[in-house]
Amino acid sequence: MSKISFDLISIFPDYFSPLKLSLIGKAQESDLISIAIHDLRDQAEGVHKSVDDTPYGGGAGMVMSPEPWGKAIDSVLENSEATEHDLIILTPAGEKLTQKIAEELSTREHLIFACGRYEGIDYRVTEYYQSAPGVRVRELSIGDYVLGGGEVATLVTMEAIIRLIPGVLGNPDSLVEESHSLPDEVVEYPNFTKPATWRGLPVPEVLLSGNHALIKSWREEQARIRTAKLHGELDGRTR
Ligand code: ADE
Repeated sequence: MSKISFDLISIFPDYFSPLKLSLIGKAQESDLISIAIHDLRDQAEGVHKSVDDTPYGGGAGMVMSPEPWGKAIDSVLENSEATEHDLIILTPAGEKLTQKIAEELSTREHLIFACGRYEGIDYRVTEYYQSAPGVRVRELSIGDYVLGGGEVATLVTMEAIIRLIPGVLGNPDSLVEESHSLPDEVVEYPNFTKPATWRGLPVPEVLLSGNHALIKSWREEQARIRTAKLHGELDGRTR
């Protein structure tokens, strides 16, 4: 599989410094992925390099102007060797990020993350690229809460995607176990490591038994209990 390239566009490029750490840092070093960060303000005009304006129709806050966004995205597309591009626009109004979406995006060639701030990006940017050839637009939200902008949501989404790319995780077995749990809406069983007793709390005895069949069924049971509890809480929540 060829390497996936990521282009991130934001007015706060420094938000992305954690990408040199840990799993994602290593994935770049081993050339499994490449990440380029672009400052939206480089595409802004005038002395103030303004990237936003008041909303048509009135209302509070500012809206990000389409012109710098159009220029930034066009420039990323022009400089890409990929034939297909996914433009991901982070917004609380987007489709909720799931493991399934992360899996789907981990198989793509080129991902562009557009990080809006304020009251979001002029909607014509979404509309324009929806009909651009070779571009798939996806508006994504990481949850039902409002962040200051799309940067943290981009970090979350990228981590969910990148760890699924073959070769990124040291031990791919952990992905196999997850794939048995998450998509079926069953959460994982609880895990324990040494010491066998910590602050008077022993590890469940079955895990020390060496009986793999017994351990497997205990873990399945624990996963079911956790899932039932979680769903019970979710069902009891008022929306
Ligand atoms: N921008 C602001 N809030 C967000 C959220 N919850 N998800 C994605 N992008 C956002």
